[in-house]
Amino acid sequence: MSRLDSFIRRLEAQRACLDFACDAVKDRPGVIFELGLGNGRTYDHLRSRLPGRAIYVFERKVAAHPDCVPAAANLYEGDIDLTLPAAVGRFKGQVCLVHSDIGSGDQAMNAKIAAFLGRTLGPALAPGGLVLSDQQLAIPGTAPLPLPPGVKPGRYYLLRTAG
Ligand SMILES: C[S@@+](CC[C@H](N)C(=O)[O-])C[C@H]1O[C@@H](n2cnc3c(N)ncnc32)[C@H](O)[C@@H]1O
Repeated sequence: MSRLDSFIRRLEAQRACLDFACDAVKDRPGVIFELGLGNGRTYDHLRSRLPGRAIYVFERKVAAHPDCVPAAANLYEGDIDLTLPAAVGRFKGQVCLVHSDIGSGDQAMNAKIAAFLGRTLGPALAPGGLVLSDQQLAIPGTAPLPLPPGVKPGRYYLLRTAG
């Protein structure tokens, strides 16, 4: 498979997982956390699939397409180590979907972030809340869900709380 094929498959898998998660939470109350704004592509996808839903975005340094920068009230700018704990306290039990796309080529850093998310995110999740992540996470109170059809295991990870 060429690198182009691989890149396209990764994005197709990401979109399939986002669509699956949006469909699963569309009739449930709650806010959304988007971890890692990047170019704003997945943020834009989430807001187009779940219009009107409050989406809170976490990004170290905003450099997205200007059309895809959230309003200041919905943006936690800075390192998630510093911003996420307060947001978890603010939205305790109210987050119906977390999408985390925060990984990089630095495996040691990815492991550090995954461990941080694993010990931090749990209290924010609503009953039946989903966590969709580019990294494998272990969050107390959640269990893995199968990925949507056609998405190769290990491309993305999906967790759900009971309820
Ligand atoms: C792969 S990009 C996200 C791409 C985005 N989902 C999109 O579709 O455009 C990852 C983003 O996470 C951010 N990021 C990485 N580590 C972070 C951290 N510790 N705190 C806050 N943001 C972080 C990076 O600055 C980068 O913009």
